[in-house]
Amino acid sequence: MGAHQRGTDRRAALYGERAGGSVGPMPLHGHVHDERADDVVSFRPQFADSGETADLPRFRLPDQGMAPDTAYQVVHDELMLDGNARLNLATFVTTWMEPQARTLLDECADKNMVDKDEYPQTAELEMRCVNMLADLWSASEAERATGTSTTGSSEACMLGGMALKWRWRDRRRKAGASTDRPNLVMGANVQVCWEKFCRYWDVEARLVPVSADCSHLSAEGAVAHCDENTIGVVAVLGSTFDGAFEPVAEIAAALDDLQARTGIDVPMHVDGASGAFVAPFLDPDLVWDFRVPRVQSINASGHKYGLVYPGVGWVVWRDREALPEDLVFDVDYLGGSMPTFGLNFSRPGAQIVAQYYNFIRLGFDGYVRVQQACRDTAMWLAQEVAGLGPFSLVSDGSALPVFAFRMRDDTSGITVFDVSDGLRFHGWQVPAYKMPPDQDHVGVLRIVVRNGMSRNLAELLVADLRTVVEGLERRQAGSATPHRQGFHH
Ligand SMILES: Cc1ncc(COP(=O)(O)O)c(C=O)c1O
Repeated sequence: MGAHQRGTDRRAALYGERAGGSVGPMPLHGHVHDERADDVVSFRPQFADSGETADLPRFRLPDQGMAPDTAYQVVHDELMLDGNARLNLATFVTTWMEPQARTLLDECADKNMVDKDEYPQTAELEMRCVNMLADLWSASEAERATGTSTTGSSEACMLGGMALKWRWRDRRRKAGASTDRPNLVMGANVQVCWEKFCRYWDVEARLVPVSADCSHLSAEGAVAHCDENTIGVVAVLGSTFDGAFEPVAEIAAALDDLQARTGIDVPMHVDGASGAFVAPFLDPDLVWDFRVPRVQSINASGHKYGLVYPGVGWVVWRDREALPEDLVFDVDYLGGSMPTFGLNFSRPGAQIVAQYYNFIRLGFDGYVRVQQACRDTAMWLAQEVAGLGPFSLVSDGSALPVFAFRMRDDTSGITVFDVSDGLRFHGWQVPAYKMPPDQDHVGVLRIVVRNGMSRNLAELLVADLRTVVEGLERRQAGSATPHRQGFHH
């Protein structure tokens, strides 16, 4: 049994399967109202006043409160069980920022982004960030690029998808055609937010299968799935599965050809959750952004390679025309009249301030240095992993600083899940998962190299991976594992 499984079982015993989200990482939580409802969280007795119990109800609001220092210590102690974020190689999301950025985050913790009248300067910084991104993504001066911050790429993708749907519906209505069967074309490797978009907004998700030769959307695959009901094609710049960049310009050219042949005009959205903060700095010759006329909108996660702690995303449309008027709401109950387009009303302003901090702190040159260091480390790590023996690379870190690897066909008895469990024992979180549908017989491990993953840490990871592999190979060979030596004092 792996370490992860053991952890899950321990939680299952404590919380019970029926507690729904309390088991494992599932974020939907069931109401606990059976025999476990009286469970308590115990804390260290020296924190309780004399005569008080050192127990708190686990699932109910305590009748009385406690001193702030005690509450802090109780929560702090429990959180020791969370993993070490810097060693979490599963996440794309920023796990390190400079102390000055943390100070700004702290100073702005009370600012609500929607309250632009109360916090005009935060709103000004948001506007500057949108402009910097429009510029970075080659928005043309002849058009009026328009964008907004969001809570992350998922919300940004929802907004991009809604604009595509609304515009398609308007076009169809004007043409007197039916509007009841919209579809969105994308690779089967898209992040789950796109499947959510389709389900929540009643759009057919046309997932183009991936293959052993091509792990992402191709131009031919995209065009073959389009018809007059296609609201758009999503191209991903930096596939979540293996970091690959989808060929945006090629897909656009194939859609130009489709339009010339059939009259069907399909717009594109680029999901640059990670890549829109990497390609502009490291691959200036790669044409993927508003230089491609078919690209109507682009999203990115400020909290991924934008280098901000979780809670900020961005979406920019190439032109105000690409953004239907009836999706924009004007609210005046916070003061002046504010046009907004977003799924949330209130949301934190601090991350937007932190994004602006990064932009002026690093500048273009600083982002080049950070992303290049990540890519160099990812490519170095990928080659080291390939050299260990039992693995073959699915990608090599040369697009996003992310790579995936699998067990070689001639490696038997060791799975990617064993390796992932073994690394957890050393403190590293390296997820193992199946590739998208049609390739889901292939299990892979993925390593995301982020700012702060130094070459030194990467070398330690390789050493630990080697230890894990050797242990698994010994187990597989059936050789008696040498008995652990006890300590001699
Ligand atoms: C390609 C892609 N799109 C969208 C998302 C969702 O982004 P967020 O976590 O910022 O909501 C991710 C997250 O990993 C992603 O990789």
